[in-house]
Amino acid sequence: MAYVVTDACSGCRYTECVTVCPVECFHIDDRMTYIDPENCIDCGGCAPACPVGAILADYLVPADKREWIGINRNRAGETPVVSARLPPLPGAEERRRMLGA
Ligand code: SF4
Ligand code: F3S
Repeated sequence: MAYVVTDACSGCRYTECVTVCPVECFHIDDRMTYIDPENCIDCGGCAPACPVGAILADYLVPADKREWIGINRNRAGETPVVSARLPPLPGAEERRRMLGA
């Protein structure tokens, strides 16, 4: 099992999640973060830290978002680790409101 960043992160990228991860699972690109499932120890700390609820345990990812499990695995292998908080992306607050979070 592992935790998974889903599409709600894209365009927000608040990075609150990366500050709570004890094992530096998070990787980043210019749109969002991804969790490396090989490193995740399922502590669950990151999920409640995300202001838009983008992070789910893999067994709770709904059917229409299951593709994000593979996307996290693949993109984590292609992108650098992030372990410090960054400013959210421009427009993150507007997108958070749009998501109803
Ligand atoms: Fe890191 Fe824990 Fe989130 Fe896994 S569940 S990515 S170990 S904070
Ligand atoms: Fe994305 Fe939420 Fe983390 S918006 S960067 S998963 S805090």
